Amino acid sequence: MLSLEVLQQVSARLERDLRRGLGRHSHHRAAVQMLPTFVTATPDGTEKGDFLALDLGGTNFRVLRVRVLEEEQRMVKMDSQICAIPQDMMEGPGEKLFDHIAACLGEFLKSQNLQGKILPLGFTFSFPCHQKEIDKVSHTHSNDPVSVFCLTFCLCVCGEQSILIRWTKGFQCSGVEGHDVVQLLREAIQRQGDYDVGSIAMVNDTVGTMMSCGYRDQSCEIGMIIGTGTNACYMEEMKNVKRVDCTQGRMCINTEWGGFGDNGSLADIQTEFDVQVDKTSINPGVHTFEKMISGMYLGEIVRLILVKMTKDGLLFKGQASEALLSPGGFETKYISHIEEELSGLENGNKILSNLGLAWEPVDVRVVRMVCDTVSSRSARLCAAALATLVNRMRVARGLERLKTTVGVDGSVYRKHPNFSAELQATVRQLAPKCDVSYLLSEDGSGKGAAMVTAVALRLARESRLLDDSDGEDSDDEEQ
Ligand code: GLC
Repeated sequence: MLSLEVLQQVSARLERDLRRGLGRHSHHRAAVQMLPTFVTATPDGTEKGDFLALDLGGTNFRVLRVRVLEEEQRMVKMDSQICAIPQDMMEGPGEKLFDHIAACLGEFLKSQNLQGKILPLGFTFSFPCHQKEIDKVSHTHSNDPVSVFCLTFCLCVCGEQSILIRWTKGFQCSGVEGHDVVQLLREAIQRQGDYDVGSIAMVNDTVGTMMSCGYRDQSCEIGMIIGTGTNACYMEEMKNVKRVDCTQGRMCINTEWGGFGDNGSLADIQTEFDVQVDKTSINPGVHTFEKMISGMYLGEIVRLILVKMTKDGLLFKGQASEALLSPGGFETKYISHIEEELSGLENGNKILSNLGLAWEPVDVRVVRMVCDTVSSRSARLCAAALATLVNRMRVARGLERLKTTVGVDGSVYRKHPNFSAELQATVRQLAPKCDVSYLLSEDGSGKGAAMVTAVALRLARESRLLDDSDGEDSDDEEQ
């Protein structure tokens, strides 16, 4: 249980780490990576076009076709398809993973009769990537629409290169870390040989969420995910992004706050259960904060507590079952199921019976308390992190009060019965000068990748208008 004072300390430590991550010289060693995304604009409602979107980040992978309608200011998902990613593929050679993605995309295009069409593609890739601008693009001819598009893309979206820094959340494919993910996807598409795609823009899921929510609410300047993993992005003042040589405007920063604590800064609040979860994970020592918060780990934290209490004779008359003793035996979704009961403990009874445990009513009540404690700690830690961002944005903009919207996605936030209320109440306490609204992303971050692509195209169109209208009426509204 973390008091408000402790959460304030956590927030102060995160603020220090955010600054370190933004610094020109300190970012190499920073636990919170603060990755520049080169997204400098959010939607303004005039975007339009037809796009493909890919969404890879959990155990499933999705392909979508999205149409953005300017007249109706609407984003319409035309169709989508889900492909499972088998466990062995998540830990096998990267080439196989990308071949699987490209094959699913090919099948989807065939089913939609789109094989001959070359559509721009937004790729939501929910892992930390270094995104680089490529200067060769700025040497191309600015009249050529494709170059203008590419240039705008590079300046506004991400550049052509997205180098995977490291896998997180159970993925561990070889030959991808340190490589350009966009390139790997292109090569896999070429190996398929029967279709092609246009420009590829790669975005983190937090950025996709901010952009898709930003289309509905233009004051949305933060994207937050609390699902299998946790992370957030936000619009930072460009002058504070010391790693990029530009001082005007704002840029979206992918914080990768999951890595908070990797330098030991959270050691005092880590419990023996957190330490154990980290040790037995496939990536020990990294993403400390994420391992205290997100869906991939919450069930396991609860399980470890229940095992200890059973061994201490405090639960189930000291008798554990095989399922309870098996790593992963207590799924995160059980926490929501147990906590969602207003009266009675039917769900809890069923879950414990299915785990092969001989329980008495008091055991079920204790298990519920454990679930409450673990999920509430998660919500409060997330709130401390979100409060750090909004407080920082308020101060950086020199405002008395900040009014902003957070686009949110992720199974923990969506499905847990009290999580969002607890998070929001705690943010109000930790950031009293900020009025924060929350907008659940519709249909996930895949649509957002299409939206990033649509914004880049809009900016490209606008910059062409600027070029075309050299010397013409400079009051043209569209400029
Ligand atoms: C992990 C990834 C991050 C992603 C988050 C939520 O923390 O490192 O890139 O945004 O999960 O999916």
